[in-house]
Amino acid sequence: MESLPEDSGEEASFSASHIPVMLVPAVDALMVSAGEWYVDGTFGHGGHSGEILARGGNVLAFDVDPAAVARGTAGYQKEYPGRFLIVAENHRNVAEVTARLNIRPRGILIDSGWASSQMADEALGMSFLSEAPLDMRMDPTLESCALDLLETLEQEELLQIFSDLGEEPLAWVIARNLVEARSRGHLPRTGKDLAAFISGVYYRKGFRRSRKHPATRVFMALRIAVNREIESLSLGITEGRKVLPVSGRIVVISFHSREDRVVKHLFKDWSRSGLGETLFHRGLVPDPSEIRENPRARSARMRAFSIA
Ligand SMILES: C[S@@+](CC[C@H](N)C(=O)[O-])C[C@H]1O[C@@H](n2cnc3c(N)ncnc32)[C@H](O)[C@@H]1O
Repeated sequence: MESLPEDSGEEASFSASHIPVMLVPAVDALMVSAGEWYVDGTFGHGGHSGEILARGGNVLAFDVDPAAVARGTAGYQKEYPGRFLIVAENHRNVAEVTARLNIRPRGILIDSGWASSQMADEALGMSFLSEAPLDMRMDPTLESCALDLLETLEQEELLQIFSDLGEEPLAWVIARNLVEARSRGHLPRTGKDLAAFISGVYYRKGFRRSRKHPATRVFMALRIAVNREIESLSLGITEGRKVLPVSGRIVVISFHSREDRVVKHLFKDWSRSGLGETLFHRGLVPDPSEIRENPRARSARMRAFSIA
């Protein structure tokens, strides 16, 4: 009998309430000055935006999810007239949006990934129990959902997604089994079906015990692929750097080693090119007490860069 390897901290079931991760260290790193503008590239439930506003900063918030934009519009935008604005945009468009709105931010914060409410949203098909078609798009305007990827990608492409983005040890077997099931017209189409399908692959391979659901890594990989998370994060901070003044700050919280590597390498390249300075060389991780209170925080790592 074999056990599964440890995985990345994604949960099998999700609560709809979202607790902001590394709230104080992240907003401290932004060095908020009263009356200046800051970009919150991932508004979500507004935990980080709220802290910036409480410290006297103004916030231009981005979110691709209409539900998050509606929360920001009905909430802070009414509560803080002239000090808070939210746009339904991908933060990769930060340069264009700030130019259009004539806002010159002094800092940018990106708290990457998904809000707990999105995980809990049955219609998005992100949970192992969802009986809705596998969608997984945070941004409903994206062309392809998770089911489209499963229906159209070649075995090699699925393998690459599961291994690169999910670090899934059975990536090859799962990709092959999915393509076989597809050819017989038996492709799993809901979160529940896909979770059961992957459990079946693990069971047949002799894995019986696991601290985490065996489908955790494949679900995470599909969500990252569907939402083009790595590309957006890289573009968001690259474009963001261009709009910040000297001593402006970029702060990024990531939950996945691939994302963290992208941020670390971009910051390193910029430091070498004299564009500024990386602030926490190894990155910061949450305190044990935060992880106890909010298990979702356990895979978080925060990095920050100061513009020269
Ligand atoms: C982890 S949550 C942010 C939580 C937030 N900091 C809080 O305290 O409530 C991530 C949010 O960012 C949004 N998002 C993810 N990628 C995005 C992107 N590239 N551009 C804009 N919004 C994005 C998601 O829709 C989600 O609402």
